[in-house]
Amino acid sequence: MSKQVQVRRKTVRDIAAAKNGVPLVCLTAYDAPTAALMDDHVDLILVGDSVGMVVHGLQSTVGVTMEMMIMHGQAVMRGSQQAFIVVDMPFGSYETNPDVAFLNAARIMKETGCQAVKIESGAYAAEAVRHMVDRGIPVMAHVGLRPQAVNVAGGFRAMGRNDAERERVLDEARKADEAGCFAMVIEGVSEDLAIEITKMVSCPTIGIGASAQCDGQVIVTNDMLGQFDWVPKFVRKNADLRGVMSQAFEKYAAEVRDRSFPGEKEVYRLQSDKKSS
Ligand code: KIV
Repeated sequence: MSKQVQVRRKTVRDIAAAKNGVPLVCLTAYDAPTAALMDDHVDLILVGDSVGMVVHGLQSTVGVTMEMMIMHGQAVMRGSQQAFIVVDMPFGSYETNPDVAFLNAARIMKETGCQAVKIESGAYAAEAVRHMVDRGIPVMAHVGLRPQAVNVAGGFRAMGRNDAERERVLDEARKADEAGCFAMVIEGVSEDLAIEITKMVSCPTIGIGASAQCDGQVIVTNDMLGQFDWVPKFVRKNADLRGVMSQAFEKYAAEVRDRSFPGEKEVYRLQSDKKSS
């Protein structure tokens, strides 16, 4: 009988222990095969509500639902074995009051099996963070550019570039940390502000458009793979998925039209035909 090797999933303690250590590697994933491919290379996988924009073609993350997050969370859990899995709470699922936040977070955890949730934590959300953590739900905070607040901000713009905004982002970060979040995404802020927050908070910070001095980095995988023409300034494209995919589509279409696909190797034959040929 072959012995099955049991792979241990990273835990919240492994993530918290990375403060001031080797940078944490985090990527987004929304499906099982992608999660399986990145699993050996990352510490955390974020099932981000960016799925609404990069997979479902929405203009912002505002339209993302609980059902979408749960379905993609389940797929990522199936595809991965060792990474720590965080699922985003969608817009409208945690802001009303801490009890609603707890109920929705508990549903995400029960139905996906993920290990933590993430919320975009304006200062008001600190109470919900504390409420959920006290009741057994590890919470990752998300400060700075908060994509779910796009309609208040009037677009996806970097935050903390004037004194008032800096104070607001610092306050959000301080409150989420004090409320017990185990890690914090800092998105789209000036580098010095990201460094100040990283020094100020006790939890690891994970930057996206922030600073290499954060305790880790996250990026939207589809942006990093080059699936889109336009990407934010802070994305480094490590592949040209858009080019690879368009070439494959073009080749397939041409081969169907000139009847060179399917070819000899791609069709089934009767056994008798095979023998005689
Ligand atoms: O939804 C997402 O992918 C995110 C990352 C950009 C951090 O929140």
